[in-house]
Amino acid sequence: MAFTTRPRRAVVVLAAGEGTRMRSARPKVLHPVAGRPMLNHALDAAGELEPERIVVVVGPDMHSVADAAAPYPVVEQTERLGTAHAVEAARPALGDLGDDPRAEVLVIYGDTPLITADELERLSAARAESEAGLAILGFRSEQPGRYGRLIENADGTVRRIVEARDATAEQLDIGLCNAGTLCARAPLLQQLLSQVGNHNASGEFQLTDVVGMASEAGETTALAEADPETVRGVNSRAELAQAEAAMQRRLRQLAMRGGASLVAPETVFLSHDTELGADVLVEPHVVFGPGVTVDDGATIRAFSHLEGAHVRPDASVGPYARLRPGTDVGEGASVGNFVETKAATLGEGAKANHLSYVGDAELGDGANLGAGTITCNYDGVAKHRTRIGAGAFIGSNTALVAPVSVGDNAIVGAGSTITLDVDADALAVARGKQHNRAGTASRFRAARRESERG
Ligand code: UD1
Ligand code: CA
Repeated sequence: MAFTTRPRRAVVVLAAGEGTRMRSARPKVLHPVAGRPMLNHALDAAGELEPERIVVVVGPDMHSVADAAAPYPVVEQTERLGTAHAVEAARPALGDLGDDPRAEVLVIYGDTPLITADELERLSAARAESEAGLAILGFRSEQPGRYGRLIENADGTVRRIVEARDATAEQLDIGLCNAGTLCARAPLLQQLLSQVGNHNASGEFQLTDVVGMASEAGETTALAEADPETVRGVNSRAELAQAEAAMQRRLRQLAMRGGASLVAPETVFLSHDTELGADVLVEPHVVFGPGVTVDDGATIRAFSHLEGAHVRPDASVGPYARLRPGTDVGEGASVGNFVETKAATLGEGAKANHLSYVGDAELGDGANLGAGTITCNYDGVAKHRTRIGAGAFIGSNTALVAPVSVGDNAIVGAGSTITLDVDADALAVARGKQHNRAGTASRFRAARRESERG
């Protein structure tokens, strides 16, 4: 049964935990997955629901977490007394929504970065369909480990949740786990939270207790089952790596669905914001850091590393290229092997194909950098720009000492060290003059042998 009017809705995101098992100076929810803090992944899912309010619960003095949560409001849980206590701390920020019987509150954990808006909608729908006071998101696992176990009623509703630490050996055998996400009628949740105690193995006020309390009070407690991949909780570095792997699988699928070819998808690492156009070809072993857009028809060849870069249509990058932030590779342009770029714009059809460093530079359309060309952008104190005009040709092993410019269609002889601007259409050579002395090689060798003997 679909409901016609959407309920008023708030999402509470818990992010106050210290994450001691991470053994990190950084709050757990700020550890990145696919280049984005776990908290922001959870907030993205919450945001997609377009709830009336999203409230993030942070720990005392967790300014960095509050900053990451912006623009969503945060409340401080002054003492970390457990997940129920944390949700209670959010109460004032819910305003009248907290008392509205037509409103629902979803609680999600900031350490569950793979959760999707779809799963949250299914959870909400499960509650609406059975007119339940509360619905819980569960998943099945062969290795349920430390997850809370769901004790079911015969009719498939949930009687209660038992935390692993409080469970009997028999209960530990249950493979149906608590994903850490629930959806409840707002006033019911408030009422239950105020009754949660802390007489359990952890000594904490556990949110999971509200399920048993709701069913004892005669409320229906519905279950929605989630794909285990989407609800992994991250409590340790090993689980962080597993979440990363799961997120990478998801991102690769999305990229391929969008029309990009990944020759060996399992070797390509994407960021949460990587954009690959149609008919982009990504060869094996490519790493995309944050902020990369690759337009239609471009090729990223093997063993390349890109971040903060825009690769325009039909351009070619790599193999073994490194594009650093501020790189803009023009349409049909190419950046070849062992070339590093930074804050560099390559015009249409421009080429930097072999063994170059191109930093703080602009290459006009069709410009060609010979092998080993280096822009010397840093004088030890400040950075300077290099400008190379359209159609210019820079001979191999040239050092361009910035600030410097080379005009359109100019030619620079190989091995030059260019310190002065080169006009358009000029030919510049700046290297030691070559002297050839006929017959001198054998005389030189003889003299050397003589001196070695002596
Ligand atoms: C929790 C659930 C468990 C579930 C699992 C799913 C409880 C008691 N247990 O266990 O049933 O299977 O998640 O991943 O809820 N937090 C606060 N304030 C606190 C304590 C925690 O904000 O005082 C936050 C943490 O930052 C974290 C979340 O709540 O984002 C969950 O806390 P955590 O300690 O990781 O719970 P788990 O042991 O993983
Ligand atoms: Ca957890």
